[in-house]
Amino acid sequence: MKVLVFGSLNIDLIFSVDHIVEGGETISSSSLVKSAGGKGANQAAALAKAGMDVYMAGKVGQDGQFLLTLLESYGVNTGAVRVYEGASGQALIQLDKTGQNAIVLYAGGNAAITIDEINRTLEDFGEGDCIVLQNEIVFTGEIMKAAHKRGLRICLNPSPYDEKIAALPLDLVNILFVNEIEGAALAGSSRDGEPVGSRPPEILGSLTGRFPKAEIILTAGREGAYYGFGDIRERGNIVDVPVVDTTGAGDTFTGYFIAARYKQYPLQAALDIACKAASLAVSRKGAMEAIPLAVEVFPPEER
Ligand code: RIB
Repeated sequence: MKVLVFGSLNIDLIFSVDHIVEGGETISSSSLVKSAGGKGANQAAALAKAGMDVYMAGKVGQDGQFLLTLLESYGVNTGAVRVYEGASGQALIQLDKTGQNAIVLYAGGNAAITIDEINRTLEDFGEGDCIVLQNEIVFTGEIMKAAHKRGLRICLNPSPYDEKIAALPLDLVNILFVNEIEGAALAGSSRDGEPVGSRPPEILGSLTGRFPKAEIILTAGREGAYYGFGDIRERGNIVDVPVVDTTGAGDTFTGYFIAARYKQYPLQAALDIACKAASLAVSRKGAMEAIPLAVEVFPPEER
């Protein structure tokens, strides 16, 4: 199985700050680090580090060449990432002393992807392959429809959540990865119009009803991850670590969960593996470079 990640590649500019800046306030940062990110690229890196056969598609400027070099060093095939004359996507990240962040995105190349590039990329993939998508590039709905036509399984992480998500053909999704905020927004209200509760099991109950063909994974920070498909429910647990930087934790989870399921781990074990990978990522600074290697995550006999 080939995994195609069609998604964002960003240059992350990480400003370490005492607290996330408020409106009208000016603060100094104690450090500024330029590093590799983008939800798509991070998920591709996580999948490759977990040992999958991964292909990245997207668009960067000349300033983003280092992203491709880094992805290739992890074994990601970057042949379908176009390099254009504009700027790469950028993420201005404030990282506070508790490890929490606030992010401002500039789309750059992520918004310059064309329908023609999408169609040409998908020609190399078909039945039995899998596509992984997020919400940081243009034409996500068109990619979903074209991938479905070609028989690919669709994994969607609708992040960052915005009004465009509701317009996506969500009934085509096979695996849906959401955090509590995204899950609650998608769950909206129950069939009788009552607001769905805010606890993960309630959100999960609503999402499994709304999307009966999709496996739903709800990540819930320290509470680990919840899984729902029909009446099946499972739960994965995090590893307790000092929180240094939460950036990219969800991307790490997504990549490792897909890899663990592909490697035939039972559901419960796959959730725990993905939670462990995300926990390790949270204990390190940065996004893509903080994603752990398979040797740190999988049980010894599988490394
Ligand atoms: O999920 C983390 C990523 O979100 C960062 O790497 C940043 O680029 C933003 O896209």
